[in-house]
Amino acid sequence: MKNTGFKENFLWGGAVAANQCEGAWNVDGKGVSTADVATGGAVDKAREYTEGVIDGKYYPSHEAIDFYHHYKEDIKLLAEMGFKCFRTSINWTRIFPVGDEETPNEEGLKFYDNLFYECLKYGIEPVVTISHYEMPYGLVEKYGAWRDRRLVDFYMNYCKTIFNRYKDKVKYWMTFNEINVLALHPFIPAGLRFREGENKLQVCYQAAHHQFLASAKAVKLGHEIDPEFKIGCMILYPQTYPEACNPMDVQAANEFMDTTYLFADVQVRGYYSNKAKKFFERNDIEIKMENGDEEILKEGKVDYIGFSYYMTIVKSAKGEDQTGGNMLGGVKNPYLKASDWGWQVDPEGFRISLNNLYDRYQIPLFCVENGLGAVDKVEEDGSINDDYRIDYLRRHIVEMKKAVEIDGVDLMGYTPWGCIDLISAGTGEMKKRYGFIYVDKDNDGNGTLERSRKKSFYWYKKVIESNGDELDSI
Ligand code: BG6
Repeated sequence: MKNTGFKENFLWGGAVAANQCEGAWNVDGKGVSTADVATGGAVDKAREYTEGVIDGKYYPSHEAIDFYHHYKEDIKLLAEMGFKCFRTSINWTRIFPVGDEETPNEEGLKFYDNLFYECLKYGIEPVVTISHYEMPYGLVEKYGAWRDRRLVDFYMNYCKTIFNRYKDKVKYWMTFNEINVLALHPFIPAGLRFREGENKLQVCYQAAHHQFLASAKAVKLGHEIDPEFKIGCMILYPQTYPEACNPMDVQAANEFMDTTYLFADVQVRGYYSNKAKKFFERNDIEIKMENGDEEILKEGKVDYIGFSYYMTIVKSAKGEDQTGGNMLGGVKNPYLKASDWGWQVDPEGFRISLNNLYDRYQIPLFCVENGLGAVDKVEEDGSINDDYRIDYLRRHIVEMKKAVEIDGVDLMGYTPWGCIDLISAGTGEMKKRYGFIYVDKDNDGNGTLERSRKKSFYWYKKVIESNGDELDSI
């Protein structure tokens, strides 16, 4: 194979999350998760989270693309594209339906045995997120979710169970998906709801501390169970530009980035930075620590940084947010075009992000999400000509290649998001598609669930075959 700068064992693949694709929300002993109480939204409208599952409302994750019953045909298609790895998550509530049980649900465990077996059959390495935007709803109701320190133990019981069960099948893990989203959208990654009058930031960062402890303990335990495990954190990386070269705008952009770095710093370096401590002080946040917490964080530093990159944002000292984006907004960037959902497409920003992250932390990076959410049209002959998606991915891979070849960034792999169409995390829509594989289903849940190959399917197959050398459109 030609040396294209990417390592020979570069992990080309794709990514999904259990709650956005599996469906089968109450099958084989699965409990209700926080994702299961999220209704569908519409463009520009975020999903709404109800108090439990309410009759008569539409919950897109309840069926999603029914990956639970289609995984064999789906993995076969991914194998046809030549996937080296497949990033998915384990649905916590399949294993522990309420969350505080001592013994796991065997039927849930079996599903992932079968799924990972199916991947390995084709030489596809599973990359597993332990908690991807879902957790048992029972833990929200009984304990107030991650605000309660007991969640660390429940999470550890879950980790111990899945590490031991899948140690011969899974080597790559990530502890929490986009952990830094916690302070922006507290319910999605941490199941947090607030009581009247409480300091929300206090609750968020205390919950974050619990997740940091859980993550560190999971890293330590994982390495004890199998020293070969590679366990990463996963952050949403929001490369932020100042609106102007006005130093005040630069400061605003930096301050915004600090809220991300806080999360990566603790997981990668194993301690809170001085800046983080000052941020807590300024905001009346007092992190309640127990003896030994600092050691736990130090002992559980991650092996790699998993991150998502879709877009960049712009901040100004005036603080005006005008654009949409992946969980965040900012000022419009006049140099960039935006997707139909207002996400500002920035391939060069990808190279910048890779460099910033690698320079700062000096541990391997793994881009585990990137992609374009777009509306696809099925032609009369059944074909789907998603040139816009090919264009987006091609331009990002070109920049990723520069970061590796020219700048020397240590990158483990690349898994574009939603390699098979799934429901959107932000809006619950099916219409916002990312996949190489089309799934016949619409926003209201109609459709045959039939799978078909888009034009990008054939393109990405060539990209993988050539280890990132052949990027031109087909
Ligand atoms: C990331 C999440 O933030 O972005 C995914 O990890 C999500 O779960 C992806 O699906 C794309 O966002 P959306 O809102 O288009 O689904």
